[in-house]
Amino acid sequence: MFQANTRYRDLSESYLFVTVARKMREFAQEHPDADIIKMSIGDVTRPIVPAARDAMLRAVNEMATSEGFRGYGPEQGYDFLRQAIAGYYASLGVTLDPAEIFVSDGAKSDCGNLPDILGSGNRVLIPDPVYPVYRDTNIMNGSEVRFMQATQENGFLPLPDENTEADVIYLCSPNNPTGAVYDRAQLKKWVDFANAHGALILFDAAYEAFVNNPALPRSIFEIDGARRCAIELCSLSKTAGFTGVRCGYTVVPQELCANGLSLNKLWLRRQSTKFNGVSYITQRGAEAVFTPDGLKQVRENIAYYRENARTLTDMLDALGWWYTGGKHSPYVWFRCPDHMDSWSFFDRLLTETQVVGTPGAGFGACGEHFFRLTSFSTHENTRAAADRLLRAYR
Ligand code: MLT
Repeated sequence: MFQANTRYRDLSESYLFVTVARKMREFAQEHPDADIIKMSIGDVTRPIVPAARDAMLRAVNEMATSEGFRGYGPEQGYDFLRQAIAGYYASLGVTLDPAEIFVSDGAKSDCGNLPDILGSGNRVLIPDPVYPVYRDTNIMNGSEVRFMQATQENGFLPLPDENTEADVIYLCSPNNPTGAVYDRAQLKKWVDFANAHGALILFDAAYEAFVNNPALPRSIFEIDGARRCAIELCSLSKTAGFTGVRCGYTVVPQELCANGLSLNKLWLRRQSTKFNGVSYITQRGAEAVFTPDGLKQVRENIAYYRENARTLTDMLDALGWWYTGGKHSPYVWFRCPDHMDSWSFFDRLLTETQVVGTPGAGFGACGEHFFRLTSFSTHENTRAAADRLLRAYR
């Protein structure tokens, strides 16, 4: 008889955002007149910027001509996009060879697929709370998962100490869900730890575009020594509103090796075997994001979301609820009122205000009693949600 992957028994029944969406649907069915405001999954609302739209339209027209038509693209992504991404990194002071950049359909897939090129005996260290994909994909894979506690006391930025044991370490900065950002000195501690212990850092930079202070690092490769111990994942979803278009990239430095094998070569082998690339049209759109016009336009969208984050933090100030995030991140992370657990607060918020957020417990045990709201909504809905909370809880 065939066997199923029984490790799935160790996962919660459904993925966090699927559970949230189901609860919201059930509420909407029971209350057909409810005007629900969604502030849970970090999905963007600003339209694709003109630079990317125009580039994609041009690419569609090219594809409809005999001369411009393209079939399968290069495995790692088109040169024009990898050059554009390398140019963006150069603006951060990071030199990358385009051969180190792999274009993909987003950071979530790469995050889930990277364990394919890692051995099964690794001790995997994951912050708690954090983006649930790190935990779930490693459980699916059967890796030994350990958690490091991110708490209000350590500013949600755990650091290595003499007891830290890990072969693979996941870091996310700016952090999802807490919005906490490692500074250079803190990231250097992780890089030094990884190099001293032969560990690998998987650095999720999906929210780098929200960093609002040039002193804070946007890429782990801004830190000396990171090329020997880190892979970086990034995405255009939050930067350029590509949650529906789908495009991201992963950087695997040439010098990264284990068991005499180059991880860059393994990732190329993995991707060219299991993935057929991102469409030419999408890659032209992504390339346009990195032009001066594209960058200016996406930064305007980020400023728009930042204003929403401000609306939310002003509301929390008025309520007197402890919070963090919202400054270098689209997420605002706050303590649930009245010592409520986060799923009970989720139900209460939905029932009393028809606002949907994300319970902190969904991101890990240390997220219990916290709650996440996203600033990716429209100004109108964000203000309406803030007004409802103020009316209900002030
Ligand atoms: C989130 O809300 O945490 C993210 O949107 C999920 C994702 O990027 O997959």
